[in-house]
Amino acid sequence: MKNLVSMKELSVEQIIAILEQAEAFRTGAASTLISKYTMANLFFEPSTRTKMSFEMAERRLPIDVLPFEAGFSSTLKGETLYDTVKVLEAIGLDALVIRHEQNNYFEELIGNVKPAIINGGDGTGNHPTQSLLDIFTIWQEFGTLEDKIVTIVGDIVHSRVARSNAQALTRLGATVQFVCPPEWQGEFETINSFEEAIETSDVLMMLRVQHERHDGLASFSKEAYNKSYGLTVDRERRMKDGAIIMHPAPFNRDVEIASELVECERSRIFKQMENGVYIRMAVIEMILKGRE
Ligand code: CP
Repeated sequence: MKNLVSMKELSVEQIIAILEQAEAFRTGAASTLISKYTMANLFFEPSTRTKMSFEMAERRLPIDVLPFEAGFSSTLKGETLYDTVKVLEAIGLDALVIRHEQNNYFEELIGNVKPAIINGGDGTGNHPTQSLLDIFTIWQEFGTLEDKIVTIVGDIVHSRVARSNAQALTRLGATVQFVCPPEWQGEFETINSFEEAIETSDVLMMLRVQHERHDGLASFSKEAYNKSYGLTVDRERRMKDGAIIMHPAPFNRDVEIASELVECERSRIFKQMENGVYIRMAVIEMILKGRE
């Protein structure tokens, strides 16, 4: 693996290898890289989890991380993403994590630049390391994804997390189903009964309502959305034994998930964030070793 831009390019064997290495980093069974690499994290869209956990992963490996702040970079003078990456190539960086608002921004980079490109999220397209950490969290919980029912609920059309998980979970044997308001369906096939899915799913993956990607949400009612599509305390009570709640976060409390469920016994939301560090360590190591 030379880059990671989408889940489509990962084989099941590669996904399993990443999970196993992440678990080895988690338990302390894996030793880390020698420190001969330099990376930077180029975030042109806001991020807390992805940016900070990549940086934690890089420091733990340990890898030198050069700071990059898009708001104080020559991007503001009109420098293109391609030209910025060429600058960092010239300076000697080995790999770049990039989050960008443009879908498939990486297409002009792969094959044309030397640093490895790790996609930290492109528009509404892909979020492969989020998908890997989601898979890792489910795998940790159940020991397998085979025959697990994963229901992804909410703002699917704007969700790179939903797209990346749709590309990967079924290949690992899970049944993936989608629930959302009709206007947020996009290319996804959805099921009609959220109420039935609550009782039959092993995983309820709630998605954030991405207000920033909606042209106008003047008619959006938090209360109405919560009533029809939110994970309320009453719905949580009807989840089956052992079923878990996930959310890529950040979350809108009391919109897609009741505030008191964020840290409830079934919630794996903060476990997902913790797992993000191990997954990103495994991905970075695999990519850099694949380039040696
Ligand atoms: N889940 C996720 O990508 O969160 P951030 O936007 O904070 O990175």
